Amino acid sequence: MHLFSPLTIRGMELPHRIGVSPMCQYSSKDGFATDWHLVHLGSRATGGAALVIVEASAVTSEGRITPGDMGFWKDEHIAKHRQIIEFVHSQGARIGIQLAHAGRKASMGVPWGPERVMGPDEGGWTNVMAPSAIPFSPTYAQPHALETAGIKKTIDAFRAAARRAVEAGFDVVEIHAAHGYLLHEFLSPLSNRRTDEYGGPFKNRIRLLTEVVDAVRQEWTRTLFVRISATDWAEGGWTIDDSVELSKILKTQGVDLIDVSSGGLVPNVKIPAGPGYQTPFAERIRRETGILTAAVGFIVDPAQADHIIRNEQADLVLLAREMLRDPYWAVHAAEHLDKKTSWPVQYFRAAPSGSTPRPTW
Ligand SMILES: Cc1cc2nc3c(=O)[nH]c(=O)nc-3n(C[C@H](O)[C@H](O)[C@H](O)COP(=O)(O)O)c2cc1C
Repeated sequence: MHLFSPLTIRGMELPHRIGVSPMCQYSSKDGFATDWHLVHLGSRATGGAALVIVEASAVTSEGRITPGDMGFWKDEHIAKHRQIIEFVHSQGARIGIQLAHAGRKASMGVPWGPERVMGPDEGGWTNVMAPSAIPFSPTYAQPHALETAGIKKTIDAFRAAARRAVEAGFDVVEIHAAHGYLLHEFLSPLSNRRTDEYGGPFKNRIRLLTEVVDAVRQEWTRTLFVRISATDWAEGGWTIDDSVELSKILKTQGVDLIDVSSGGLVPNVKIPAGPGYQTPFAERIRRETGILTAAVGFIVDPAQADHIIRNEQADLVLLAREMLRDPYWAVHAAEHLDKKTSWPVQYFRAAPSGSTPRPTW
């Protein structure tokens, strides 16, 4: 087994193990995908990634992190995705969408704008929600604690978005339960202080996520990923032991792969970030539950990525920032590791010898 070994997940065949991690582009208006997304995702597919995952796409308009976030809360959002999906497929790649709700981190400015809460006159909104009325930090919005009816509405919004993913023709749905957004906020005792059936002991804190998974699974029979933060890196927070227990349950619910990230729940924590620092979490979840995992975080070097697969630490590697630096990372990795891979026929005169022409439309 190595980086360029094929992988089949619930009938979806990937020619190798390199994917593009979801990355917010903050380039949508009213949640709509644009030509920017077509080019951004399309060029990484052209560059040889086996799988590209569309950024966090909000299941309700208040579930966006910023007014520029991608959304998937109305049927009108589907059409542009169809075009993107068709192009990505024409490059022999698969495409997923990450379904998200920003919870208490909603209604902020885009990263290149002022880093503060956006008022209604700036495209922001006041209906910011969380498990408990605890803000992320003093510079974030004051959320209100979701009532049971609001929880049910949120679950329905994830279900409706999954139905849109079917209609659009995506290959993968990833549920975003990481990075301190709504579903993660319910998981962690640091942000969830509820006393109803959605708060308190572990089985109550995971209830919302498991209900979202069940709702999505009613509509979505194809490949399903869940992204988690394996640890909050904070005293009294969510831990890797919790993540292992959760993954066992998600596996029984028909989740195919756990995409293992970390952090984001509370600010100002010490994170030992560095090459592959989250990979041991992916390895432990994989070993102790038997579910497929994806490793993500500071994976930049082909030998490093190959090592992760060869040592059975994860089944898939997802790259984010390195894919922004080099959209052709996958074909470059093949060359570096002396593996053969496919190149677009249009670019074939530049391909290393032994490359195969990529089927196109
Ligand atoms: C510009 C940018 C946008 C991101 N947006 C998302 C997102 O929409 N959803 C998500 O789960 N992670 C998001 N992330 C986190 C990445 O998917 C990834 O987990 C993280 O950057 C670590 O991987 P890297 O070291 O390869 O960049 C984003 C990261 C970047 C750099």
